[in-house]
Amino acid sequence: MLKEDGAATGGRLKILVCVSGGGTNLQAIIDGIKSNAITNTEIISVISNNKKAYALVRAAEEGIPALCISPKDYEDREAFNRAFLKAVQAAGPDLIVLAGFLVVLPEEMIAGYRNRIINIHPSLIPSFCGKGFYGLKVHEKALERGVKVTGATVHFVDEGTDTGPIILQKAVAVEAGDTPETLQKRVMEQAEWVILPKAIDMIANGRIAVEEGRCIETDKGGCS
Ligand code: GRF
Repeated sequence: MLKEDGAATGGRLKILVCVSGGGTNLQAIIDGIKSNAITNTEIISVISNNKKAYALVRAAEEGIPALCISPKDYEDREAFNRAFLKAVQAAGPDLIVLAGFLVVLPEEMIAGYRNRIINIHPSLIPSFCGKGFYGLKVHEKALERGVKVTGATVHFVDEGTDTGPIILQKAVAVEAGDTPETLQKRVMEQAEWVILPKAIDMIANGRIAVEEGRCIETDKGGCS
């Protein structure tokens, strides 16, 4: 269980992972739990907005219950928001992990799961983030700007876009001759697949607290 201030209140952390694409971050979480890099945690469900997401294959291979809920299947956004929120609540997660999830969350959900939704973003926030910055676009802009270092960020989700309290970041060198694709691959391999599992393990063991909008690492057992 998790409280809004990040304090864990005992028992295994039940996580719901939301996906839209290949699911390599979901795979990193699955592998992290198997290798014990992530402790005290179980993936109780996967939700995708994309029926074709390979992440759904990864979930099926692990026997993880998965749902597909797409805005396209609803007459309007409000109807989707209601169905999505209902499915999330029915799963009963302690923590919701957005792993490449390309759908804007209902505000009601963000309010209802304050500091219990995390997202992995493929840049060092506050660079190359915000509306329109997702997937390859992030790396295109980093190369266009000529940065020498980029990376990834795990943060709590708030009402903004990529604006919630930063939990972990990891830097990755930009190399001569990089294309958006080679840079994306390096950021995923060297940063995303490292800090997302680490952040989940820290949260599962009560080692992250949010104070005045910033994350602090606490000793085991949650808030200082
Ligand atoms: C990753 O690059 C992640 O940073 C971004 O979306 C992509 C998801 O990839 N949020 P995958 O579906 O986890 O492979």
